[in-house]
This record gives sequence, structure tokens and C-alpha cells, in this order.
Amino acid sequence: MKTYKIAVIGGDGTGPEVAIEAVKVLQAVAAKYNFKLDLQDYDFGGERYMRTGEVLPDSAADEMRRHDAILLGAIGHPDVKPGILEKGILLRLRFELDQYINLRPVKLYPGVETPLKDKGPEDIDYVVVRENTGGLYTGIGGFTMKGTPDEVAVQSMVYNYKQVSRCLRYAFEYTQRRKKKNTLALCGKTNVLTYVYDLWERAFHDIGEKDFPTIQRDYYHVDATCMWMVKNPEWFDVIVTGNMFGDIITDLGAITQGGMGIAAGGNINPEGVSMFEPIGGSAPKYTGKNVINPLAAICAGAMLLDTLGETEAARTIENAVTEVTSGKLKSMAAGRMGYGTTEVGDLVAGLI
Ligand code: IPM
Ligand code: MN
Repeated sequence: MKTYKIAVIGGDGTGPEVAIEAVKVLQAVAAKYNFKLDLQDYDFGGERYMRTGEVLPDSAADEMRRHDAILLGAIGHPDVKPGILEKGILLRLRFELDQYINLRPVKLYPGVETPLKDKGPEDIDYVVVRENTGGLYTGIGGFTMKGTPDEVAVQSMVYNYKQVSRCLRYAFEYTQRRKKKNTLALCGKTNVLTYVYDLWERAFHDIGEKDFPTIQRDYYHVDATCMWMVKNPEWFDVIVTGNMFGDIITDLGAITQGGMGIAAGGNINPEGVSMFEPIGGSAPKYTGKNVINPLAAICAGAMLLDTLGETEAARTIENAVTEVTSGKLKSMAAGRMGYGTTEVGDLVAGLI
């Protein structure tokens, strides 16, 4: 029987609770489609850091490379200074595993409430391809005269052609595979960031014209993108953008699809090991209360299977989630679902 080796990093706060529900659903679908999951738990996160002083063992990336995919709950602990765990675990794994794509579908499931007036599931269904290892996240910069009135702080938006073109190529190919509107929109800021987004824009049109002539190319500045994501989300099919803009617009996207309880994403290395996560945080105040919504983690599990080539199994999860959102859950918000975390996992697994 086909067996997939999956690393499970529950992480902090409600991360482990939602990861368990995602695993429950993955097991259900594995039984149905005759494959096996060889699951291995990793305790990376705030608790481990406070216990051992080590954020992430140096061997972690190599260890992860021995798996077919990674499922991540959430990283971020209220007793650890912001940045330590996020940079030391999440970003480090993204970088070391060269997960250069962050794939974030913005999809309004039936029955889910959106804050966008008069918009429904047929209007809100697009995907953001966020470049995931470069740009402002490169970490190049520094201070001089820190703590004085003359202090200068610099953080550079760094991109090379190779990084930009591999991301764009992925986005074009994804748009082709998606077969929806065959439209790829570049989200940039060519009117101000006249170096970095000039590079993006040139590469976008060069690659598109040469290798993807059937894909329509649109361009939006990032500020306008935010506006249209609210006013006319139905215009979008696939949006490709740099790391920082992608981070920002996908939180906006997530709220339009009903919030962090349902928004999933994948940190993808198309040639290597990818890591799937609910895009929300560790929600410390809900930890251990069985109130957090596991659907985002469950949808991340579906994306994981899709990437492994188990497309039928992935679709089965999506269909089950659709059934649960349309009619059963009262809200996507923690504590207001009308069900507990484990019950929502049971509902989805039961439908499978
Ligand atoms: C995300 C998060 C991370 C990011 C943080 C936690 C480092 O906001 O996955 O969007 O900025 O990428
Ligand atoms: Mn973010």
C-alpha cells in the first residue's frame, strides 16, 4: 500500500488541537482511498524552547526532508518575545526547505458569512501565490546609533531574477492547471518601488509572453489590489506577488472568506518538501478550550494531499468541509461554531 511520511508539528497554543483534527480527517480519507500515513510528531514550539533554550535543532530541516510533507498547527507563544519563534521556526523552515511559494486560496465556502456585502461563494474564489523566501523577509538590514535621535534603521526589499522568475513560473503554471479564468494578476507597486517591482513586472511579461501566451496578464498596485479584493473579488483568478505584500493581502483575503478559522495555506517547494498550515496564529486565549475552528487545518490537510497527487482524496475533504459549512456550523469564529473543535473534526471525518 502506498505510504506517505508526514511530519506533524502541532506547535503552540491551539496549534496541536487543530492539527489533531486535521490528522483525524487525513486518516479517514486515507482509509477510503487506500493509502497509509506514517505520522511523526515534532515538539517544535514555545514550550520546547522555554524548556531547552533551543528554538529549532540544527538537524530539523534534514529531518523534515525525510518526509513527504509537513503539517503545521501554529507557531507563537505569549511567554516568548515576538519574532523568536516565528523567525526561528516558521521562517527558518520555510527558508531552509526552500519553500519559495506560499499558496493561499481565498475561497468562500457555502454557508460561511463574509463581511463583503452582496458577495457569495461564486464571487470569492481565487488564489494568492505569495513569494515566500525573499523580499523584505530576507532579513538584510540593521541599525546605526540605536537608541539615539540619530538612529537609522534599514530593512531591504531584496529580490534576484531567479527568485522572481521561479515564483512567476509557478504562478503561471498554477493558473494554467486551475483552468478557471486563465488570468494571472501581478500585485506590485511599480509607481514607487521602481526597482524591485520593475524587475517583477518585466519578468512577468517576458515569461508570460514567451511561455504562457494563453494566460491573460493583469497588473494592480498593491493598494488598489486591496480595494478590488473588497469591491470586486470576482475579478480575480490567481494573484502573484512578493513576500510582504502577499503576507498583508492574504490576511485581507482570509477575512473575506470568513476569517482565520477557515483560511489554509501551503509553503511549497515544488521540487522538495512542502509544509501546510492554517494561516491563523496560535490563539493562546482559546487554548485547551475545545472551541477553536479546525477547518483551516483540515483544509490545509486537503492541500497537502493535493500536492502529494492524491487529488481525489483532497477533493473529498473539500466536499465534506463544504457540507459542514453549509448548514451545520453557525459561525467560523472560535467559540461560536455551535460545535466543539473535536466535534467539527468528527463531522468532517464522518462525512468521509
Ligand atoms: C504568515 C505569518 C508569518 C509571516 C509570521 C508569523 C512570521 O504572518 O504566515 O502569514 O509573516 O509570514
Ligand atoms: Mn501573515
